[in-house]
Amino acid sequence: MSLKKHILDLRKRREKVQLGGGEKAIEKQMAMGKMTARSRILALLDNESFTEYDLFVEHEARDFGMDKKQLHGDGVIIGTGTIYGAPVCIFAQDFTVAGGSLGLMHARKITKIMDHALKMRVPLIGINDSGGARIQEGVNSLAGYGEIFYRNTIASGVIPQISVILGPCAGGAVYSPALTDFVFVVDQISKMFITGPSVIKTVLGEEISMEELGGARVHAEITGNAHFFAGSEMECFEQIKKLITFIPWNNTQKARAFPPKEPKFKGNIEDIIPADPKQPYDVRDVIKAIVDDSDFFEIQEFFAPNIVIGFGRMNGQTTGFVANQPLVLAGVLDCDSSDKAARFIRYCNAFNIPIITLEDMPGYLPGVDQEHAGVIRHGAKVLYAYSEATVPKITVILRKAYGGGYIAMNSRHLGADFMFAWPMAEIAVMGPEGAANIIFKKEIEEAEDPDAMREVKVQEYIERFANPYVAAAKGYIDSVIEPSETRHLLLHAIEVSSNKNDQRPYKKHGIPPF
Ligand code: HXC
Repeated sequence: MSLKKHILDLRKRREKVQLGGGEKAIEKQMAMGKMTARSRILALLDNESFTEYDLFVEHEARDFGMDKKQLHGDGVIIGTGTIYGAPVCIFAQDFTVAGGSLGLMHARKITKIMDHALKMRVPLIGINDSGGARIQEGVNSLAGYGEIFYRNTIASGVIPQISVILGPCAGGAVYSPALTDFVFVVDQISKMFITGPSVIKTVLGEEISMEELGGARVHAEITGNAHFFAGSEMECFEQIKKLITFIPWNNTQKARAFPPKEPKFKGNIEDIIPADPKQPYDVRDVIKAIVDDSDFFEIQEFFAPNIVIGFGRMNGQTTGFVANQPLVLAGVLDCDSSDKAARFIRYCNAFNIPIITLEDMPGYLPGVDQEHAGVIRHGAKVLYAYSEATVPKITVILRKAYGGGYIAMNSRHLGADFMFAWPMAEIAVMGPEGAANIIFKKEIEEAEDPDAMREVKVQEYIERFANPYVAAAKGYIDSVIEPSETRHLLLHAIEVSSNKNDQRPYKKHGIPPF
């Protein structure tokens, strides 16, 4: 064959294999409102940056008629590319080829690109659209998943791992994402479950639709398995691109710095907080008044909204924000919000991202439901995560800091580097009403007018304890500040912390209260 013929032959082979499961299967995929695996990769990565590997890989299975089946690329596309110039490794499962199910060669392709990502120390993005372990390949499929989970775990905290759920994902196709850092879902397209509705009906006799069982909203709002929710695949890709701008390539680097920008917020930051301490407000308004360009990238917006987490930039440098949300349950810590905050704190710590904590909350949520759901174990995760973190840690107490909440929300005692409090901060063991009822019980009961006496005692308590000055007098608070000084002081605190070196005793690893 002449060179030209060789090249034409290669082109023909490529074209055929790149069709995945063929035109009919592609039409079916698109009729479901889904993009193809290849078009997803091309839409996500920078133009003409994608380089594919293992295009011609074939499965070697022989059972259950597999010897007569050709599965192009064995149902998965792998390669490298860039996002805004940052290198990434990527795989996308192709549902048009045997439902994107994972056989041995399919798994080998994924583990190959995972190994590349880990060796090259660049982020890994996995687009999942798969029925899970390929049933016809038996234990080989299970082995394949095991090897993926192993690599997810080894890579955890070393390179960012991002999972995108873009189809009905079952079994191993959801456990691998669960081991990664960020999971993206798209309304009506993403489904995640260990076993689908038909297995549930067979085993338990329960009938439920795929959407109700494990649709995008379920995971964004109820289970917390998803971190980002989008209305369309293209919106989802924009979210991933934005995330990539906020995180470093690996755990030895810092995130890329951007040109500093002043917040767009105009007005008085103190006006965001109502004068009545019982009135709620949206803490995201405070964050937007502080961060560069008022650009706050929220994570897990719809799950446990009583705590707000996400990234912003301070003088161009990525910063993690953890803030109680007075709009929801007065911003208390409960099982879910503790899990949400603790995991994010550990992410920031692993990837060299300073953490700013904004505190306004009455403590941990009391009640039988919470106690029985394990609020002790879940709540302890926040104590553990803050204590463990060695990145710069700065707290601003905006208003209430009561009881366990005061300690948990990155207090001086858990290793905060800088503690600021606004002048209306209330730092005490509990709120004035509860405290007065307990410590002045006798006086109140014996008074001629118990209600009037209670009011007097509440005021007495507020004057004595519900302020930041008792804590400031002991050095637990470094500085009581005017709200308008907040951004300036935070920028300074981050700047002076840039060479922070907090060495801890050697250990193999800790035993966090999972
Ligand atoms: C082989 C599979 C497959 C699988 C789907 N297909 N899942 N082939 N192994 N696991 C094939 C179908 O046979 C079909 O092939 C094509 O993919 C499309 O599937 P449909 O069922 O027609 O699509 P849909 O109705 O959209 O349903 C998608 C689905 C369903 C919800 C994913 O296919 C399903 O429930 N699959 C099984 C899910 C599951 O229980 N997997 C086991 C996971 S165990 P044709 O040729 O007809 O187009 C596991 C172990 C790991 O993963 C455990 C980790 C701890």
